[in-house]
Amino acid sequence: MTANPEASKRTEKDNTTVPRHVAITMDGNGRWAESRGLDVSEGHHAGFENLQRVVADFANRGVAYLTLFAFSTENWDRPESEVNGILELAIAVIAHEAEQLNENGVRIKHLGRVDRLSPELRNELELAVKKTENNTGLTLGIAFDYGGRAEIVNAAKRLIEEGTPLEDIDESKFAEHLYASDMPEVDLLIRTGGDFRISNFLLWQTAYSELYFSEIMWPDFYGEHTDRAFESFNERKRRFGKRV
Ligand code: IPE
Ligand code: IPE
Ligand code: MG
Repeated sequence: MTANPEASKRTEKDNTTVPRHVAITMDGNGRWAESRGLDVSEGHHAGFENLQRVVADFANRGVAYLTLFAFSTENWDRPESEVNGILELAIAVIAHEAEQLNENGVRIKHLGRVDRLSPELRNELELAVKKTENNTGLTLGIAFDYGGRAEIVNAAKRLIEEGTPLEDIDESKFAEHLYASDMPEVDLLIRTGGDFRISNFLLWQTAYSELYFSEIMWPDFYGEHTDRAFESFNERKRRFGKRV
């Protein structure tokens, strides 16, 4: 993983910058459903439908890396029926979408623990990652059973397991041991659903990200809402700690 201040892509059309790596905390499925008198499972269903729409749109906009927070290490503590519903939905979506994503040149990566996933979900994820590994289009990071703290602890354990000499451990060596270490740091982190917090997402990779919070619930966040997030990104002056 590299810290690259010049990473974002300037479009020739209007001289605006497309963030190179966007991460999204897809929050608000439950409230979206509740406000419509629907079951929470309907909210997750609508959320997964939006996910498919957003992936295609972001690829068209020229975003190179997109990481989506789909299920956190803390989300296991929700009611069993909700968790099971999300797991089933995830299996169905990956099984259904992987081929289409592959045809569109999308490269899929998984960020998160695999040991707690059902064999079926683990299998679908691994197949999708394997099938798309040589694609050169959008890199799509799926954060599932993901926690930023767990990722950092896991990296530390791997360094120790490998017997890494103390003097060899620096930030770049450490970053090589994160889940998707070939993805660059996040340029723009979007959180939908109206809350202003990180909720254990990409703690390492967002050290110098621009943050954008939207009131819109995830199933409704697309099109003009993405325009607004990108416009806001373009108004930011990134300094990376320097006097510029
Ligand atoms: C985000 O939507 C999806 C997951 C956490 C899996 P929520 O289900 O958290 O929606 P709200 O925050 O309850 O509205
Ligand atoms: C963050 O949303 C996790 C995902 C979107 C997958 P949460 O709904 O779990 O976060 P909190 O509980 O509001 O912090
Ligand atoms: Mg939530």
